[in-house]
Amino acid sequence: MIELKTPGEIDAIDAAGSVVARILAAVRERAAPGVRPSELDALAADMIAEAGAVSSFRGYHPRWAPGPYPGVLCVSVNDAVVHGIPSRTKLREGDLLSVDFAVHLDGWCADAAFSVVVGSGDPADEKLIATTEAALEAGIAAAQPGVQMGDVGHAIGQVARGAGYGMLADHGGHGVGRSMHEEPHVPNEAKPRRGLRLRPGLVIAIEPMLHAGGKDAYRHDRDGWTIRTADGSRAAHAEHTIAITENGPRILTLP
Ligand code: MF3
Ligand code: CO
Repeated sequence: MIELKTPGEIDAIDAAGSVVARILAAVRERAAPGVRPSELDALAADMIAEAGAVSSFRGYHPRWAPGPYPGVLCVSVNDAVVHGIPSRTKLREGDLLSVDFAVHLDGWCADAAFSVVVGSGDPADEKLIATTEAALEAGIAAAQPGVQMGDVGHAIGQVARGAGYGMLADHGGHGVGRSMHEEPHVPNEAKPRRGLRLRPGLVIAIEPMLHAGGKDAYRHDRDGWTIRTADGSRAAHAEHTIAITENGPRILTLP
């Protein structure tokens, strides 16, 4: 079932989103050569506690996973696309880092992600990240009241495929609310003028995941969580939680 949120509920998700944005900004600031992803996770965990929020990730246990998720961040490095468990392996100059993060505040969730190159890196990685961000922007811009979900997926997919990048098969965004993952599914590639009609009050996470290889295949690490590109190509991820309003899309995961 798809639950539309009231303006007051959207404001509550926006409050959670501000916490998410603030902590992600701090994590981005701290990411540098020599820093361990586990240290970024600890920083985020401290800031969650200070904010009076609760991690949406720690303890999360979907059916396909081997156990409860151990971190508060997902830190996916280089060919890891999403769901990387924060490791103790120090970041190196030129690593392509993707950080995904969600909290619950007063019972409402918000979910966001960014990618960045650690130190200075390959211009090809910068372009992959910029295109992923452009795909997210296109998806958000398309998310107007009255359009259909296929229009959102089409906007994202056009940017990604137009630049020649691959995307994970069967992965996309989702509804957000009391739970981190709600209906509906938000495709990163779709035919226009198909699917659910977007109504004011719908709150969704839009999250393109692009990789440099043309193939859409992926594999899971032995840890059961980390998703890597099958061809070893680097991947980027960008995500915002947004609300559809009568005046258009409203981004809820801004500082
Ligand atoms: N934000 C991620 C997503 O929407 C959720 C990560 S699952 C976790 O796919 F278990 F790592 F938390
Ligand atoms: Co998400």
